[in-house]
Amino acid sequence: MNVSGKLALKMLYRGLRNKLEQRPISISFEITHYCTANCWHCNWGGPFKGETRLQAEDYAAICRELRPVVSHISGGEPLARGDVYDITRAMANPGGLPWMILVSNCAAMNVDKYEKLRDAGINQFSISLDFPDDRHSDFRRIPKLFQKMDRVIPELTARANNDVSINTCITAWNYRDVPDMVKLMRKWRTPINFSVYTPLRMSDPEGTPREDQLKEVREVFQKIVDMKNEGYPIYTSERVMWKYYKFFTEGGIPGCQAGRRFLVINPDGRLTPCAMVMAYYNDQRDMLKDFTSSNTCEMCYISTRANTEKKLADFIADNWDMLARQILPWRKPRSLELLTEDPAADGNGSGPTKTKDEQETEASQSAAAQ
Ligand SMILES: C[S@@+](CC[C@H](N)C(=O)[O-])C[C@H]1O[C@@H](n2cnc3c(N)ncnc32)[C@H](O)[C@@H]1O
Ligand code: SF4
Repeated sequence: MNVSGKLALKMLYRGLRNKLEQRPISISFEITHYCTANCWHCNWGGPFKGETRLQAEDYAAICRELRPVVSHISGGEPLARGDVYDITRAMANPGGLPWMILVSNCAAMNVDKYEKLRDAGINQFSISLDFPDDRHSDFRRIPKLFQKMDRVIPELTARANNDVSINTCITAWNYRDVPDMVKLMRKWRTPINFSVYTPLRMSDPEGTPREDQLKEVREVFQKIVDMKNEGYPIYTSERVMWKYYKFFTEGGIPGCQAGRRFLVINPDGRLTPCAMVMAYYNDQRDMLKDFTSSNTCEMCYISTRANTEKKLADFIADNWDMLARQILPWRKPRSLELLTEDPAADGNGSGPTKTKDEQETEASQSAAAQ
């Protein structure tokens, strides 16, 4: 994340103020529910007939009124709207807030669009990934999508703007592949952020790891924590990883703050507390009174929930590295060192220097082969 010290302070101030005033920290503007993909785990996908859509200035007016810290331009697939640049430009406040994140499946992304979106005001590109190979294309039902991402994402990150990240929803289908996705980040030179599957979107329990899989899930989560400590570029904090594990083992996390800390704006401008609960409101105050105050749902624990419901002490602990760099700007995080290593540094030009973990794996593989 490319956040200057001044902006980090603005984010902290607005975050605290919004918390006190019961305004959202994060808003997801779902500017269309049409999608170029049709993912196994998602209720959107394919055409969406008869959608009512607001125009750029209308979304901007909602954004100014609710004053979030972070605005996601999402969907459906936001790049399916030709006016995504106008919407971004109308909502953005260059050098200030909200921090603007585009969430995309990458199918329509290229360097030209990336630059146009940056010019319009996108601060961060969050690209979804479910598998470290062509199974991703099958899961998203877009032929050759993985190959396209494998080509385009390094083109974007080669511009060294430090504004591309990968987001991965951990499911029963892909948890074994998570360490390989983390390793792929070194090739793509981008950090990865995790979320966890919710059965709510598709009323499908299949994506939640079964009880007999939980031991293995725990081992994978420990591996991710170890990789993070080793310097792999993983945004998700150790604390949040174990909260995700708790969500899988207990089937829920109480205390949902949908409608208060985060909410969704639909293509027609109506508010819903989250992407899964289709309770429509025209006003956040009504939603707080009629939904949030009596909400007992605990069926999702996606990254947005995990990150906007943090206590101040947890927020500071989870972001200590970033906050410390605002005070000591020369302090470089280990993960960025990994991302900026010279690909030829291991002497054979085949990739970044191998981590201890990779060296050990290679050593045991070669021992096993002998
Ligand atoms: C709904 S998509 C919209 C933006 C864009 N089309 C994309 O896929 O990135 C936003 C995120 O929701 C995630 N998602 C979809 N279904 C989910 C589910 N059942 N549980 C948790 N996350 C889910 C996707 O993986 C994606 O990262
Ligand atoms: S997760 Fe994103 S790409 Fe997949 S169907 Fe849903 S909206 Fe489309």
